[in-house]
Amino acid sequence: MTAMAKTAIKLKLNGNEVEALVEPRTLLIHFLREQADLTGPHIGCETTHCGACTVDLNGRSVKSCTVFAVQADGAEILTIEGMARPDGSLHPIQSAFLQEHGLQCGFCTPGMIVRTHRLLQEIPNPTEDEIRVGLSGNICRCTGYQNIVKAVQSAAAQLAATKEAAE
Ligand code: FES
Ligand code: FES
Repeated sequence: MTAMAKTAIKLKLNGNEVEALVEPRTLLIHFLREQADLTGPHIGCETTHCGACTVDLNGRSVKSCTVFAVQADGAEILTIEGMARPDGSLHPIQSAFLQEHGLQCGFCTPGMIVRTHRLLQEIPNPTEDEIRVGLSGNICRCTGYQNIVKAVQSAAAQLAATKEAAE
């Protein structure tokens, strides 16, 4: 059996320039977890249903099991590993999930938090319905979603207060 030819890709991953060789068939989630050592994005289904693999790609939430790594050539990607502040403290969205008990087993949480980050960029002060619709691509088997909604509301309030204080 001959090895499949590899393609060079270059991308910005959590603010760092990364270059790699990938097979054309490699999914972005496999590249992230196996080549870039970013195991925060999880694999729940590999069929675009669960959202555990969600990352931010060029300002949009994507399910990284649905994207080939070669399609991310030249892209900017944010994963859960890139959410913490430069001093290592938690991002307000991470703190809100912690404080509001927006997680139990935590399997869905990296995808939930990265998706919430984009949702709050799209709609800084979402209604409960907008939160539920905005997170509808992310499945949680544990929480019943109520505390996730509370966490997003709390994060939105914290981010708005920080923005006001900076203005
Ligand atoms: S692993 Fe990608 S959506 Fe489930
Ligand atoms: S906290 Fe367990 S799947 Fe969401």
